[in-house]
Amino acid sequence: MTRTPVNVTVTGAAGQIGYALLFRIASGHLLGPDVPVRLRLLEIPQAVKAAEGTAMELDDCAFPLLSGIDITDDAKTAFDGVNVALLVGARPRSKGMERGDLLEANGGIFKPQGEAINAGAADDVRVLVVGNPANTNALIAQQHAPDVPAERFTAMTRLDHNRALSQLAKKLGVAVTDIRKLTIWGNHSATQYPDLFHAEVGGRIAAEAVNDQSWLENDFIPTVAKRGAAIIEARGASSAASAANAAIDHVHTWVNGTDEGDWTSAAVVSDGSYGVPEGLISSFPVTAKDGRYEIVQGLEIDEFSRARIDASVAELVEERDAVRGLGLI
Ligand code: NAD
Ligand code: LMR
Repeated sequence: MTRTPVNVTVTGAAGQIGYALLFRIASGHLLGPDVPVRLRLLEIPQAVKAAEGTAMELDDCAFPLLSGIDITDDAKTAFDGVNVALLVGARPRSKGMERGDLLEANGGIFKPQGEAINAGAADDVRVLVVGNPANTNALIAQQHAPDVPAERFTAMTRLDHNRALSQLAKKLGVAVTDIRKLTIWGNHSATQYPDLFHAEVGGRIAAEAVNDQSWLENDFIPTVAKRGAAIIEARGASSAASAANAAIDHVHTWVNGTDEGDWTSAAVVSDGSYGVPEGLISSFPVTAKDGRYEIVQGLEIDEFSRARIDASVAELVEERDAVRGLGLI
């Protein structure tokens, strides 16, 4: 039986993450080896030509699952009938730009994209925001899509999650697959909190298995939280292949579920759990089942973790208040 293709829209398709992402979507890594996809690439007018070049290369791969590619600079066209929206394109911070300027410039992108999703997306649409500041960009888009269930808007902290898995696996000399229940809390920024007090390695709490508070505080947490900046310093450009990989992981897990006895991290709309103000898009421990992400409930949060979660959530509240002040939400 031939399946109807799933419409996947990628914004910023001509950028570095776009280049690393599109080929993996088209080859079946996003949704599975038996799910055909139709790609919609959204770019700004100056970058449409480059997106066309990427589309030529996609054609040249003759991917059996790729049923078509549309390229546009119009958000309404890009999101018409969309099932999976990957919002990657964003305005980077340039020299002399204040935080408020950055939020305002991105508001100019994510507000109309939220409106276009509201106007034309398929009923089952799932949105992942990658473009920074990802959590607040997701909030802006979500606020302008009142007809779409809020839970369908998410932001990416899976890259931070994967970074934390790798750092911990190296420290303990175990495989990443030996680690379960790791959590990134809060914002996709340097204030994020990678939590080893609920993570498990071989049935033991990871923080106990590490048994090195100084490593945890002075090495692990800052290494994970500042990894994005370290990559920019080393590569001269922000992470691209690892970010694309994490976007694939985020959507794949959302659609296919988490393993029994495990969870992952995603920034989802808060229901007030763990003292995170309702409506903020903040990273939590989440399970996925039946195509829905759900916040893991009932974890005990000690003082050490509480202070760090609160600091990151305070930053998200500041960002929300700033975009509210700018009239963006
Ligand atoms: P890039 O500059 O290479 O590409 C961005 C692309 O977006 C460009 O081609 C640009 O033309 C396009 N674009 C800009 N405005 C647009 C709009 N209104 N509509 C459609 N396209 C638009 O950047 P990149 O390296 O691909 O990174 C993209 C974003 O992802 C950045 O904001 C980056 O900071 C962020 N990022 C997030 C994570 C995460 O973990 N959440 C990780 C890495 C990078
Ligand atoms: C990352 O975590 O690699 C990026 O969010 C860094 C950035 O500022 O683009």
